[in-house]
Amino acid sequence: MIGRRTNHFDVLESTNTHAASFAGDPANHGLVITADAQTAGRGQYDRTWSVPPGSSILMSVLLFPPVELRQPAILTAWAAVSVYETIRAASGLQATIKWPNDVLIGGKKVCGILCEAGAQHVVAGIGLNVNQSTGDFERLGLPGATSLAIEAGSPFDVPSLTKQLIQQFDNCYQRLVQGDIASLEAAWRSRIGLLGQSVVVERMDGGETEGYLIDLRFAGVRIAMAAGGSESTAPEAIRHLRGADAR
Ligand code: BTN
Repeated sequence: MIGRRTNHFDVLESTNTHAASFAGDPANHGLVITADAQTAGRGQYDRTWSVPPGSSILMSVLLFPPVELRQPAILTAWAAVSVYETIRAASGLQATIKWPNDVLIGGKKVCGILCEAGAQHVVAGIGLNVNQSTGDFERLGLPGATSLAIEAGSPFDVPSLTKQLIQQFDNCYQRLVQGDIASLEAAWRSRIGLLGQSVVVERMDGGETEGYLIDLRFAGVRIAMAAGGSESTAPEAIRHLRGADAR
């Protein structure tokens, strides 16, 4: 069960690093590490993740997934859809998922997800902006970021939101281990919301292709080209999937 054991800290270097230190023993599956602050929080592409102490959820979940779930797209979708559902239940706010693993509200980033995998384990790290002000993001030079409090117009209780998020993670994970991957895939597809639209697939190898998004699955992202024909790309080979008119 996710959250059977949770350890909270005032400050850690990185909740992901701390969670990974328990990865030697599969009995630690479901361990949740949270902190009020991090001295070396990590983001995607070797970026740092900095937030004012106590302003947000800084959480890492240690998983030992069965082999059928050990696909980065599935576990990233599990984290992103769980965050999306928690935001909706706690605030009524409507978020979207931006490929591969950001959660946005009104086009601004409210949550970043960093999944780091070892031979048998995965650490899913979540940074959910809760009570930061617009001034906080201005000081950090992050004009594209937002928080739940900014969007809702009132603050949230971080510990109770943390409990809701852990519950959502567990519910969603239980469905996956029972074999229901299709529900998560459908939720992920609809929260990304680009189906039928003109999109650009930016690949890890630096290439990009433009076309109409005709299918979005963990097995492949299929686009139809204007010149005819279609092309499917594995999610792991895609750096960004964006609307053709978005940058
Ligand atoms: C991103 O760049 O969008 C991903 C950010 C992930 C940040 C979270 S905060 C909790 C966990 N611990 C870390 O060091 N990083 C993740």
